[in-house]
Amino acid sequence: MNVIHVSAECYPVAKVGGLADVVGALPKYQKELGVDAKVVMPFYSNKFTSEHKFESVYKDVLSMGGQVYDYEIFKLKRNFLGFEVLFIDIPVLLYRDYVYSYDDTDRFLAFQIAFMDWMLTFSERPSVIHCHDHHTGLIPFMAQESYKYKKLNKIPIVLTIHNAQYQGWFSHDKVGHIPSFDFSKVGLLDWNGQINPLAAGIKCAWKVTTVSPSYMEELQRSANGLESLLSHEHQKCMGILNGIDTEVWNPETDEFIVKNYVSRIVQSGKKDNKRWLCREFGLNISKPLFAFIGRLVGEKGADLLPEVIDAVLPENNCNFLILGSGHQETEDRLNALKEKYDGSYNAFIGYDEKLSHIIYAGADFLLMPSRVEPCGLNQMYSLRYGTIPIVRSIGGLKDTVIDIDDGGFGFCHDRVSLPEITDVIARAVRFYNEQPMVYKKNRKQLMRIDHSWDMSARQYLDLYNSLNPE
Ligand code: ADP
Ligand code: GLC
Repeated sequence: MNVIHVSAECYPVAKVGGLADVVGALPKYQKELGVDAKVVMPFYSNKFTSEHKFESVYKDVLSMGGQVYDYEIFKLKRNFLGFEVLFIDIPVLLYRDYVYSYDDTDRFLAFQIAFMDWMLTFSERPSVIHCHDHHTGLIPFMAQESYKYKKLNKIPIVLTIHNAQYQGWFSHDKVGHIPSFDFSKVGLLDWNGQINPLAAGIKCAWKVTTVSPSYMEELQRSANGLESLLSHEHQKCMGILNGIDTEVWNPETDEFIVKNYVSRIVQSGKKDNKRWLCREFGLNISKPLFAFIGRLVGEKGADLLPEVIDAVLPENNCNFLILGSGHQETEDRLNALKEKYDGSYNAFIGYDEKLSHIIYAGADFLLMPSRVEPCGLNQMYSLRYGTIPIVRSIGGLKDTVIDIDDGGFGFCHDRVSLPEITDVIARAVRFYNEQPMVYKKNRKQLMRIDHSWDMSARQYLDLYNSLNPE
């Protein structure tokens, strides 16, 4: 079995969010199951590509919308990632110091065409092409319909939806950019009058997965306009819960954190990390520390954080620490609160991988008041580091966190509203102050919950096998 993952992100090469973590981990676990898994991604101009040496594997030109672009495929000279990554370099479009930008339609269309053109040269076809999100959503259509890729149309294609909010829409004016096909099939590309790569992927992929079972159910009711399509296609859809890379996210060996620890010494191990955070951010070590890590966008409920902090801090003896970037207004409001709550609140506006690890290790509680959460990895990282997640029960959060009052280990709320979030935080503060022994025991138990990729990697393998009957 050999599978090619095609993705815009892959940790540690280029990461914007959880997509990178998944594509950087799943292939490793697939290899342990005997699957020859590779990743194909764009060649960006970033820290990773500047620090490593590459060798050329293939070189050609592609045409798109009447223009011709050079492209070249590279691989690492010395691969240390645990699986092979192939980089598609299209200098004028992809080689930038960011992953996403204003001209993504052209950038990712060219990326997909280069991938398909290059695939035509393969002597051995892959058992499965595994596409991730809308950036690769036109591959299933092109494989099925574009004349020039006819010989690839027997390769099973799986599309994983990591986030259906983003669909990659563009106008029909650019339909000519897609390698030619029988025009009576143009409806496969369209959704509500626009070319919709995610919708086209859902229509043409052999199987569609989402990153948690609950998210699959939710999408059939609400999917940013695609709900009726997903209900219609439900027979080829399934939810497979993401796992986490337990090598990267391991408090025992994590090189980013201040003090390593195992569950036996979780109290002292976490305390050293918390002490560092409190010193660095001017917080109070004797109070419980609530943290938020993530994109400051509506989906994550981040717009409510300033109000939550304003409502919670005067009433409760606790600290807040935020790490994230996103909407300017939310960033400004979070910055503005620093002075008001000096000593019990701080925020780092930006992206910092190392700091995120120290926060997972040093915080007492992690907040995830998400409006939409296809899977969410943060809650699983926090469990692994003995930090109690406080989540809104939706999508993957619902599938991974059980409330302590229901025999579980975390705190859950149903709605994304100020009263519900402040209530659940107050409940957590009481738990911390009034039941210290249960709190400590709970921490140890959290760390033992298995969220590694083992089980989900097997589910993907079963899915691939179902598409490749012997
Ligand atoms: P999403 O992909 O929707 O942003 P996930 O929970 O799947 O959400 O994954 C988010 C990933 O990005 C996690 O690895 C998290 O630690 C990381 N992350 C998000 N924001 C930041 C940030 N500002 N600095 C460092 N890491 C971040
Ligand atoms: C998306 C989702 C997030 C998920 C991640 C990885 O970014 O928003 O919930 O964990 O993809 O699948």
